[in-house]
Amino acid sequence: MKTKRLPTNIQSLRGTIAVPGDKSISHRSIMFGALAEGVTEVTNFLPGADCLSTISCFKQLGVSIEQEGQLVRIEGKGFNGLTEPREVLDVGNSGTTIRLMLGILAGQVFSAVLAGDSSIAKRPMTRVVNPLREMGALIDGRKDGEYTPLSIRGGQLQGVRYQLPVASAQVKSAIILAGLQAEGETIIVEPEATRDHTERMIQQFGGKIEKDGQTIKVSGNQLFKGTTIHVPGDISSAAFFMVAAAITKNSEVVLKNVGLNPTRTGIIEVMKAMGADITVDLHSGEGEPAGDVTVRSSQLKGTTISGDLIPRLIDEIPVIALLATQAEGITTIKDASELKVKETNRIDTVANELKILGADITPTADGLIISGRKSLQGGTVTSHGDHRIGMMLAIAALITNGDVQLEDPGAIDVSYPEFFDHLTYLIK
Ligand code: S3P
Repeated sequence: MKTKRLPTNIQSLRGTIAVPGDKSISHRSIMFGALAEGVTEVTNFLPGADCLSTISCFKQLGVSIEQEGQLVRIEGKGFNGLTEPREVLDVGNSGTTIRLMLGILAGQVFSAVLAGDSSIAKRPMTRVVNPLREMGALIDGRKDGEYTPLSIRGGQLQGVRYQLPVASAQVKSAIILAGLQAEGETIIVEPEATRDHTERMIQQFGGKIEKDGQTIKVSGNQLFKGTTIHVPGDISSAAFFMVAAAITKNSEVVLKNVGLNPTRTGIIEVMKAMGADITVDLHSGEGEPAGDVTVRSSQLKGTTISGDLIPRLIDEIPVIALLATQAEGITTIKDASELKVKETNRIDTVANELKILGADITPTADGLIISGRKSLQGGTVTSHGDHRIGMMLAIAALITNGDVQLEDPGAIDVSYPEFFDHLTYLIK
């Protein structure tokens, strides 16, 4: 397996970068572009491995898509123009691709088989499969549809009322995408608010969706019109450099054009609560909110992270755990058992890998307890094929004294192909 020697014990991190486009929004721009009538153009698209999996799946469904770097042009086929794929749809490492695709395929009168890599094969799918079956889709797979490979035969769906058992934007979005193809109204109730990029994008494509608190209503038989989507920078990618600037000496990093959708900004609130020197300059504009985020070296204190904050920073928890290793006192993260079913079991991978570097971190049933102000040491760590674990460890290495080797650094290409270029540029 490939191993990378990471930069350690740096003097300072300084400069301005624009992190790549948001992964969640990039996936959805391809999906809605394909389902719309007419052409959609996407700028600042994230050409990471996950979003490229979404593009290749839609090409297999007969959609013409041209992608060159961050620019994408999609010739929409409408809800009735997709065609039966000849081969298995390969979603790679992408949970968003498989779960949202299932919602789309549930309303299509053909059959398809979906599979991905060894991480996808371990991730739970009945959370999406059950409501889609209730709406009328025929789905089968290993362990009665819990695991890939999954086969789906879609058809005429019926609207449902569905109370989500877990706070998951992927499950919510899959049901919305099926609801857009169903007879009547589909009502979804979320236990806690999750990212609302699907809802916003429906409106950008000229569709209708209603929201009242945590209840969402959508009807079938809508027409979407191709449009232009500008993808803001991914706050989940910016998070690594936000934390890096806060925990290193003499640092000041400016992150330009970061997406600041309130369903995603939990990390900013937590960093402020921990005493970080962070300022946000929100741009005015349409669509998704965005702005510039500046972070400087900080004196940090521990905090408690729980409840409805969790879905608003779920993907940032690995790097928040690292931040907590440098904060005075104890940080407790709870109500986050969803971390166990991400690209890896992130409660275990975060705790085990940070322990190798000398952190005082204890995994619990639904989170982590971190005792702070620990100086980190060198060691050999692994991403476990999980992009966010790989990036978190590369940021941890910046404050270690010894040598740090990262196994499987290639996993980072899933969401941030230029990560090491940006890191090298900022180290001064
Ligand atoms: C995503 C939703 C979240 C998140 C994932 C992307 C999305 O997953 O962790 O990285 O684009 O809808 P869940 O829906 O499983 O919480």
